[in-house]
Amino acid sequence: MTAQLNPRGDVAVLVPAAGAGVRLGPGAPKALRPLAGEPLLVHAVRRIAAAPSVHTIVVAAPAADVESVRLLLAPVAPVTVVPGGAERQASVAAALAAVPAGPEIILVHDAARALTPPELVESVAAAVRGGHDAVIPVLPVVDTVKEVDAGERVLGTVDRAALRAVQTPQGFRRSVLTAAHEAAGDALTDDAGLVEKLGVAVVCVPGSELALKITRPFDLALAEHLLATGA
Ligand code: CTP
Ligand code: MG
Repeated sequence: MTAQLNPRGDVAVLVPAAGAGVRLGPGAPKALRPLAGEPLLVHAVRRIAAAPSVHTIVVAAPAADVESVRLLLAPVAPVTVVPGGAERQASVAAALAAVPAGPEIILVHDAARALTPPELVESVAAAVRGGHDAVIPVLPVVDTVKEVDAGERVLGTVDRAALRAVQTPQGFRRSVLTAAHEAAGDALTDDAGLVEKLGVAVVCVPGSELALKITRPFDLALAEHLLATGA
């Protein structure tokens, strides 16, 4: 059954899904690869659509797959599908350009974080609604982290207590994300990085283990296991 989005919602979610998935190994674009029998993108969009504040979902698909992604997602939720770009940042910019007037909170969420619970979408949106211009979900770093030189020689140990591993969805006041993308220079791997360059404060909220990014075959196996055990 197709989910209904909330016409009174104040959140648009951009879903960059145009990457190749090189680190996952040979095969289809990552967002279209199966996880427990359904493409990663279907899992991701279903969970976003279940978040009550969501008014609009815009997916940036691989350019060659725009039409098939529209057909794939039509039974899942009402979504707009646009062609993505060569870098994640270009895919996000293409999706941002397709957001209609209305939603003043924009979340950017990797299709690769397919098991992200709707509650995380809501908690990031709530923090933006509460007055923060830019909000990122984070987890503590559990490994000891070393800085090394080009020859793999250790230069020092970084204080782990001051580090955070960053997830998506990242949430922004609409005007802030638009300004950040207009000012963007070098491609970065996250949108908060663009906002930081504007000098805007970015705040952290607790992330979720379920929002892991499916990057390598191990992550896909872990996600299969998590789904099988109720995620
Ligand atoms: N992405 C995108 N457009 C690109 C590159 C990435 O929309 N040109 C999206 C991916 O589809 C993914 C998210 O950005 O949902 C995070 O990127 P990543 O995990 O690196 O995915 P891929 O780029 O597909 O993987 P890889 O780097 O291994 O090729
Ligand atoms: Mg990538």
